[in-house]
Amino acid sequence: MAAPDLFRDLVAHCKEYGFVFPSSEIYDGLGAVYDYGHNGVELKNNIRDYWWRSMVHVHENIVGLDAAIFMHPTVWKASGHVDAFQDPLIDNRDSKKRYRADTLVEDFLTRLEEKMEKEIERARKRFGERFDEAFFRKTNARIQELEQQLNTVRQRLQEALEANDWGALRQLIDDCGIVDPVSGTRNWTEVRQFNLMFATQLGAVSGESDTVYLRPETAQGIYVNFLNVQKTSRLKIPFGIAQVGKAFRNEIVARQFIFRMREFEQMEMQFFVRPGTEQYWYEEWKQRRMAWHRRLGFSHEYYRFKDHLKLAHYAKAACDIEFRFPFGYKELEGIHSRGDYDLSNHQKYSGKKLQYFDPDLGDSYVPYVVETSIGLDRMVLAVLSAAYCEEEVPTAEEGEQATRVVLKLPAILAPVKVAVLPLVARDGLPEAARKIFDRLKLMVHCHYEEKDTIGRRYRRQDAIGTPFAITIDQQTISDETVTLRYRDTMHQDRIPVRAVEQIVQEKLDWRQWLA
Ligand code: GAP
Repeated sequence: MAAPDLFRDLVAHCKEYGFVFPSSEIYDGLGAVYDYGHNGVELKNNIRDYWWRSMVHVHENIVGLDAAIFMHPTVWKASGHVDAFQDPLIDNRDSKKRYRADTLVEDFLTRLEEKMEKEIERARKRFGERFDEAFFRKTNARIQELEQQLNTVRQRLQEALEANDWGALRQLIDDCGIVDPVSGTRNWTEVRQFNLMFATQLGAVSGESDTVYLRPETAQGIYVNFLNVQKTSRLKIPFGIAQVGKAFRNEIVARQFIFRMREFEQMEMQFFVRPGTEQYWYEEWKQRRMAWHRRLGFSHEYYRFKDHLKLAHYAKAACDIEFRFPFGYKELEGIHSRGDYDLSNHQKYSGKKLQYFDPDLGDSYVPYVVETSIGLDRMVLAVLSAAYCEEEVPTAEEGEQATRVVLKLPAILAPVKVAVLPLVARDGLPEAARKIFDRLKLMVHCHYEEKDTIGRRYRRQDAIGTPFAITIDQQTISDETVTLRYRDTMHQDRIPVRAVEQIVQEKLDWRQWLA
C-alpha cells in the first residue's frame, strides 16, 4: 500500500476502533490535541509499562520520579528554555500556512534521498544479481549529482541553524526552490523566531512575576530533584532517574496526527555520570535504547540512528533513533549528552549546591548527564504503523478471498490479550466460556463476546491486535477442550481447558521482552 494511503487508513482505523479521537471533536477539534479511547489507553499503558520495567526494574541503579508539571519560573530561565527554546517559522503568503523553516529544508533533503533510492532500485532491477550497489553509487553520474546536492544543502542548513542565521535559512529555501505543499508557490515571508513554551498565570493576581510555564520537557523536574533522589535512594554514580509525564509545546507545524502534538507524554531518563565518562555512557545508552526498540520484533529496517545537525542549547552530542513512519524516517527518540549544563545552571540560579560527593575519588563535583528521551504518543504511532496490515485471507466460501485488517502488535503491547468467544450463545456455551473468562481476567486484559458470527468476532479482534482467541464450542462440553486461535497465522490448536491459564501465562511472560 502507498505510504500516504497507509497513513490515512491508519488514522481512520484509530478512530473506528477506539484508539485515538480528535480532542473536542464535536467543536471541530483543537489543533494537534488528541484523546485516547479504551484501546488507545491500554496500548499506551502497555508501552509505558514496557519502558518502565526495562529502565527502572531491570536496572538496579535507576529509580523513578513523578515531578509536578508546574515548576518555579526560574527553572526555565536556568534551563535556557526562556531564551533558546525557539523554532524558526515561515509563512506562505498565498496559503496563509505556517511552517518550520528547517523542517521545509529537511523534507526537501528527504525527497532527494528518496530520489537516490529510486535510482538505485531501478538499477538493481535492471542488473539483477550482477548489481554492485557500492560501485553504482560511486560511478553513476545522476547519483553523484544528487549526493553532491544533498551534502551542500545539508551543510548550509547546519551552518544556518548553528549560527541562528535566519537570513541564510530563508536564502536556502529560495535556492532549493522549495514550494508550499498547499499553494504550490514560493511566496514566502522572512524567517522569524517563535518560543514554544505555553505560559499561564499562577494565583489570582496576574503580573510578570506570576508567569508559570507548562513544562516543555520532563527532564527539569529530575534535575532540580537530583540530590533529593540521590540521597533518599542512596545511589552511587553512575545512576539514573526515570520519569514519565506530560509535556507541552506550542508547535508551529502540527499536521501529523499524534506525531507532533501540543500536549504529549514523554518517557525520559537522566543518567548521572562522572565527568570524563560521558562519551562511554552516551554510546552505551544509544545501543541499549536501540536494543529496546528491536526487541519488539518489527523489522530492523524500521530503525536507524541519525546525528543531530543542530544541537539543542543544552547538548554536547546528540542523536535520534529514527523510525520509518508512513511519512518517512523521523525522530522517535533522542539520546543527548547534556554535560553539566543543566545542573550547573540550576546551581547558579538557585544558589544551592548541586554536587555529588564521590567516595571513590574523595571529591565532590557536578555530575554530567546522558539523557534518553522518547515521546510516548510518538511510540504509539510507531507501533501502530508497523503493526497495521491489510491482507487477503480465504473466506468460508470455497475459493473466495476477503481483506482482513490486522494489527500485528507484539503480544505484550496488545490492548486485549485474549478474546473468549462461545461459538454460539446457547447450549451451555456462554456459561462454560464465562467460567474461563472469569479466571483469565484476573491475569490479563481479556474480552468476552457472544454476539455475531465467530468470523466477524475474529475480524474485530484482529483489528485491535488481540493475539489470542479462545473459542468454546460443543466439543468443550463433552471433552473439556477449547480452540486457541493465533492472530497472525489464524492457525488453531485444540487445547485442554485446564491448560489455558498456563499457556496464556507462558505466551505473555514479560521475560521474553525484558531479558
Ligand atoms: N528532554 C529532551 C527533549 O525533550 P526532544 O528531542 O525535544 O528532547 C524528546 O524530545 C522526544 O519527545 C522526541 O524524540 C519525541 O519522541 C517526543 N516529542 C517531542 N516533541 C513532541 C511533540 N510535539 N509531540 C509528540 N512527541 C514529541
